[in-house]
Amino acid sequence: MAKEFKRYTITAALPYTNGPIHIGHLAGVYVPADIYARYLRLQGSDVAFICGSDEHGVPITIKAKKEGVTPQDIVDKYHAIIKSSFEEFGITFDNYSRTSAKIHHDTASEFFKALYEDGKFIEEVTEQLYDEDANQFLADRFVIGTCPKCGNEESYGDQCENCGTSHNAIDLINPKSAITGAKPTLKQTKHWFLPLDQYEDFLKEWILKDHKKDWKSNVYGQCKSWIDDGLRPRAVTRDLDWGIPVPVEGGEGKVLYVWFDAPIGYISATKEWAKREGKDWEPYWKDEDTKLVHFIGKDNIVFHCIIFPSMLKAEGTYILPENVPANEFLNLEGNKLSTSKNWAVWLPEYLNDFPNQQDVLRYALTANAPETKDNDFTWKDFQARNNNELVAIFGNFINRVVVLTNKYYGGVVPSPSEFSKVDQETLAAVKAYPAVLSSSIERYRFREASQELMNLARLGNKYLADEEPWKVIKEDESRTKTIMFVALQIASALATLSEPFLPFTSNKLKSILSISSSASATLRADSVENSWKDISKNDILIPSDHQIGEAELLFSKIEDETIQKQLYKLQASKKANDIANAVVEPQKETITFDDFSKLDMRVGTIIEAEKMPKAKKLLVLKVDTGIDVRTIVSGIAESFTPEEVVGKKVTVLVNLAPRALRGVESQGMILMTETPEGKLVFVNPDDANASNGLKIS
Ligand code: MF3
Ligand code: ZN
Repeated sequence: MAKEFKRYTITAALPYTNGPIHIGHLAGVYVPADIYARYLRLQGSDVAFICGSDEHGVPITIKAKKEGVTPQDIVDKYHAIIKSSFEEFGITFDNYSRTSAKIHHDTASEFFKALYEDGKFIEEVTEQLYDEDANQFLADRFVIGTCPKCGNEESYGDQCENCGTSHNAIDLINPKSAITGAKPTLKQTKHWFLPLDQYEDFLKEWILKDHKKDWKSNVYGQCKSWIDDGLRPRAVTRDLDWGIPVPVEGGEGKVLYVWFDAPIGYISATKEWAKREGKDWEPYWKDEDTKLVHFIGKDNIVFHCIIFPSMLKAEGTYILPENVPANEFLNLEGNKLSTSKNWAVWLPEYLNDFPNQQDVLRYALTANAPETKDNDFTWKDFQARNNNELVAIFGNFINRVVVLTNKYYGGVVPSPSEFSKVDQETLAAVKAYPAVLSSSIERYRFREASQELMNLARLGNKYLADEEPWKVIKEDESRTKTIMFVALQIASALATLSEPFLPFTSNKLKSILSISSSASATLRADSVENSWKDISKNDILIPSDHQIGEAELLFSKIEDETIQKQLYKLQASKKANDIANAVVEPQKETITFDDFSKLDMRVGTIIEAEKMPKAKKLLVLKVDTGIDVRTIVSGIAESFTPEEVVGKKVTVLVNLAPRALRGVESQGMILMTETPEGKLVFVNPDDANASNGLKIS
């Protein structure tokens, strides 16, 4: 028998405030967390659903530098954008705080001090990577190098995004400064380390023994591999100027490592909420009867399963997470989502382009959630989920029930007579749904749950299609009433059970049916209220004589054109980003006109071309320069085949001193340029009147 909990502390990873929220964040973290929190509230559970902005860390400093503003400007801007887009999207955090809040600075400082005073840290002067040009230490995302575990050449100083491993920056192979590109030197500096090696036994006991059965296999597997590899002390302070100052002697000029302070943000956000609500925060973090669940993406596993629990354990008075249902990654149209590359569907833009269609995105992301493996979001799939499921199944069923009830009975729920076998089976099937959905949700299988919800709508559709009230009405009025009564029960069940998944639709449907749902089942004369549990307990979810409202469309079809627009938009923003990020080389030193006029450049035509044997890059060309036909060896073989270049008009520098390349004398140079993607392009006189030999000046 599973343990009964008195309350739930549900956390969703604090997003970095270096950009808006995109669909990857939503699918991986916020939609599943919100479904879970809404579901628990519908059960009548005591829930604290906590999140906030992660405002420290290197990505924010980098973004600020890039935009020429202060880190505070960046976090203020994105905190506001993120907070309001979450609200509009219907993510029901009980508190959305931020790590620049005073309550957080205080909480994190106190936490650090408590561990410090209790002798839980190792204080040590070690050599750290230093950028001499930028005059600063290179921690975390300020340094890039080869991951010692998987060989990924783009690993960050504190974590490899490819294999998820968290490491110390000095362990990177071939480190390079992300600021100047320079090779770092080593410089001595003092830091405080959390000796993770001392927590190995605790972690083994806690994760490997206690939890292996109920944790997701991807999460358990990662943890096991890290623990098996052996853990080492990790620095929890940094030589940076953006963050929470190290609150102990010798900490001047240093800040807490962002991954030390951010998870404590869950605690400070809970405190802030409790204060506002006049509650006590401590039971939510310190009572064994509280179930603590962290919703995160897979790149956060090590921090939530190894480092933060070790911090909590070191402190000693906190509970540990019951579960960490981390998701895999969502890709977009076949490519990795990327904030820096602008390859994303951004939440504020979605809300703008698809007004009042929050549930469509919630549904598409849930039905295709990256729960057990990376998944791909495509606009085509989004359209299909809407048109073929939400519109054709859910919306269609509700619409038929409401339209017919209005048409036949002026919107008054009719009284049934005898239930047929099919009616009884259908009503019994409806009653089974809460348990089916609960079982999926409680195992964090939201994808499966969303499909079960759709199955309930399918059941309704099939019931109407089989019973055909629109035909039966012509010969048997009393049977028609029974059919419509049953169909209305299904609609009412859908109104309540859809709430965690499709909250906006659920509200709309409840208002159409004039019912409400809440955790406590109180039947008022003028309204019908169903709790989650009532759906399986009560025979009647919407009683005879109850007046419902007019039909309203719950979903509408999404046309190809709309989808095409989104695809264009994606391509356009990527292109704009490529251009913005293209590195324009600085201008060279000024030259005089005399310098320039020394160059003799002519219009020419390539008349023959062949590959240079055993040289990947070289073509041997015969070029008509108007002066003569000469041999030029050109490094263009990776961009062009010999056939492609024959007949091309080109610009030739003809008075370059000849030189031998692989034994072939090259008598000049063809002018080329290179696109940001690395493709070579001829600088060519694009005019038929430009005949060979003409001078370029
Ligand atoms: N900001 C981190 C990220 O986006 C998540 C922080 S979660 C917390 O990957 F636990 F540190 F809060
Ligand atoms: Zn790696």
